[in-house]
Amino acid sequence: MPDVDAAHMGTLRSLGQIVDYMQNLMGASAATTPVGPPTAVAASAATTSSAQLGRFALEMTKAPAVGLAQKGLLGAKQVLITSDGTDLNEVLAAQLQLRGVQALASDEVNQNSEAVIFLGGLRAVADTDEAIATQREAYSIARTIAPRYTRSGGLLVTVQDTGGAFGTSEHDHQRAWLAGIPALIKTASQEWPTASLKAIDIDRAGRSSSSLAAALADELLLGGGELEVGLSAKGVRTSPRSVASAVKQGSPAIGRGDVVVVSGGARGVTAACISRWAADCQARFVLLGRSRLSDEPSCCVGIEDDAGLKRALLTRAQQDGQKLSPAELGAQVRSVVANREIRATLAAIEAAGGEARYRSVDVTDPQAVATMLDETRTSWGPIKGVVHGAGVLADRLIADQTDEQFDRVFNTKIEGLKALLSGLEAEPLELICLFSSVSARCGNNGQSTYAMANEILNKIAWSESRRRQGKTLVKSLGWGPWEGGMVSPQLREHFALLGVPMIPLEVGATMFATEMSSAQRDQVELVLGGEPRPEALLVVGSDQRELSLEVQVNRANHGYLDGHAIDGEVVVPVVLALEWFSRLARAFRPDLQLQSIDDLKVLKGILVDDFDQQGQRFVLSCRQLSNGHGAVVGMDISAADGTLHYRAQAQMVPARSPAQRRPQPQPELDDWGGAPVYGDVLFHTERFQVIEDVSGVSGDGISGRLNGVESASWSWEHWSTDVAALDGGLQMLLLWAREHMGGAALPMGIGRALVHSEAPPAGKVTCVARCRPSGKSRGIADIRFEDEHGELFTELHDVELILRPSDKRA
Ligand SMILES: NC(=O)c1ccc[n+]([C@@H]2O[C@H](COP(=O)([O-])OP(=O)(O)OC[C@H]3O[C@@H](n4cnc5c(N)ncnc54)[C@H](OP(=O)(O)O)[C@@H]3O)[C@@H](O)[C@H]2O)c1
Repeated sequence: MPDVDAAHMGTLRSLGQIVDYMQNLMGASAATTPVGPPTAVAASAATTSSAQLGRFALEMTKAPAVGLAQKGLLGAKQVLITSDGTDLNEVLAAQLQLRGVQALASDEVNQNSEAVIFLGGLRAVADTDEAIATQREAYSIARTIAPRYTRSGGLLVTVQDTGGAFGTSEHDHQRAWLAGIPALIKTASQEWPTASLKAIDIDRAGRSSSSLAAALADELLLGGGELEVGLSAKGVRTSPRSVASAVKQGSPAIGRGDVVVVSGGARGVTAACISRWAADCQARFVLLGRSRLSDEPSCCVGIEDDAGLKRALLTRAQQDGQKLSPAELGAQVRSVVANREIRATLAAIEAAGGEARYRSVDVTDPQAVATMLDETRTSWGPIKGVVHGAGVLADRLIADQTDEQFDRVFNTKIEGLKALLSGLEAEPLELICLFSSVSARCGNNGQSTYAMANEILNKIAWSESRRRQGKTLVKSLGWGPWEGGMVSPQLREHFALLGVPMIPLEVGATMFATEMSSAQRDQVELVLGGEPRPEALLVVGSDQRELSLEVQVNRANHGYLDGHAIDGEVVVPVVLALEWFSRLARAFRPDLQLQSIDDLKVLKGILVDDFDQQGQRFVLSCRQLSNGHGAVVGMDISAADGTLHYRAQAQMVPARSPAQRRPQPQPELDDWGGAPVYGDVLFHTERFQVIEDVSGVSGDGISGRLNGVESASWSWEHWSTDVAALDGGLQMLLLWAREHMGGAALPMGIGRALVHSEAPPAGKVTCVARCRPSGKSRGIADIRFEDEHGELFTELHDVELILRPSDKRA
């Protein structure tokens, strides 16, 4: 080792600078023994714009139910509900049956199953192993149904109890070991694009089966489109989001001479991180890997390229009279390269002012880990920190993965973590840092097992942080893809195609080192890299993704529609379609706010079949049409047989602009004169008679006072708009049409519905409509709706009225 100027080393901020410095120092010898992991040498900040990289902290945000059903539930011939070891699946099946779902309590999932609700994540677990086994059970079900779901979709909902907030809130520590199930759902959403998927975390909190079943049935039939939904015992519905948050510096968790154990720390990106961090903390590191460290065969010295190493090792074998198979030769080359990486990392850490030793330990072997920890304590003293960076990949679609591949990927992360944490149980740790992946947060095609394992790391991190009451800095770092480590050239190409930014080694290593003295101890689960967008990070064409939700309309759940019947047949009012569209848009992009519903067209009005009994099912589908500042979303409402009834677009924005306070020219209105309101053109009865009084009318418009959903005491719903008041506004237009178009008209479309509030107002509503005829049988109107305090909450623009054929003027 050459002499190192520690003062100068301390000024070097990147691994690249350290590598350059060491190469200069080592001079000629550097040509024969590469310093710094080969991946570090390959680092190139040029290929990624660091501006695209960021730090995103996981938060649970309130996500009120939108009032629409999960697709694939109401129309399924059989929904299987698996057992959680109690009678919950039977109770839930019975409750869903009462609400029109063909549900059956059964564990007999097979490759033809079209709808499955997996309750295994609610099972009581006696120990960590039982908790971990739940993931294998969920995986095995997913693999069974995968071919059918890949081809033609289906419904899979998983239910677990990790506190009702995906491990972020207080709950039984043991249960965090089963928290990987949602990552299976998130990956399935990419591998099975037409399937209907959801992961529910519900806090059991000692509740009876019937109370749990009611909460679950509500979520399934009235929830929303989120892939992950948390349900607290108090009924609060939340969903996880990753929110951009700059790191704030606090005091470093690890200082000079502290002992830190690092699994996977001698090679790959973890090595780059530790080498960079060593310059800050100058700690002592025990680096673990499976590779054996041995002297480099003399025939390899000075040879860098793969072909050259193979030639040299083959020649040596021939000289020694040995025969080498291609596999043996490949293994020997890998061993030489691994050894060089390990030595380079040890050198880089020492050069940065730290100390490092390498131990060949398989982290999944608890005995070997315990022995290494004992040996470390004896020679270096108490252990202050642990970094779990070991990981392997075996990417396969859910349908194709073998048990052996599952175990290899899963165990390296999970059995490895278990062995480390149980070996360090009594240690007063200052730092626990787990190398996770963005694929846990978003799912990733072909990486279901890897995503599940990393999701468990995320949740164990939350649990450890709580258990240690903030005294230990606990971080689970969900890295985006790096330019190095396990990211092969093929994977790199794949990410480039998807537009996913790659993390240059130097940038990532600095992010890691900075995080090790983060003051934000409550930010446990992070994504570092590109933004994990709610509409998924790693899918080609994620902009084209679709969401479908459903609604069943019958007397039991839409009793108020009784008041909107013509000749005894219930008609869905156009404002209810507007309400469904607004719920759908909000369910599709909960991260944005609804600004307006545009171009709403009645393509075929809906007369509800069999309203008194079963009723009729409608499918509400939406897809993203453009994504920029907000999003434009295209939406349809169709009957279950595919008949298209309504179409509209939604404008979604990051923050809705406030209602325009500009003074509106008021229409010149004459006295209404007490003409009857209901009875002729207004067929509405009962709760649809929402007009309190008409204050004036003229050729220019009409105005009056209305009851909204609240003042008219409509049945409780997850109202997103004030359907009662908006229907009242349209009723006023029909009165105007009677007076000034000379007959009964129908609203056939709404050019733009501007939404200024999240929910209907309390109290009475004032509406003013400005109307104008447009041809013999057509009228156009704009309506403004204000609450009791004069606050504008909705505007309908360019409402189109058409005279009913029988009422057209001659
Ligand atoms: N590279 C990325 O883009 C990326 C993205 C997201 C997350 N991550 C995470 O970052 C960590 C490092 O990834 P990487 O890309 O650097 O991977 P890598 O180059 O394949 O390195 C993996 C490291 O883990 C060690 N390891 C694997 N199995 C082990 C075991 N059973 N016991 C002990 N050590 C073991 C390996 O050493 P031996 O082979 O000698 O055992 C190696 O040092 C992983 O946890 C990964 O999930 C990486």
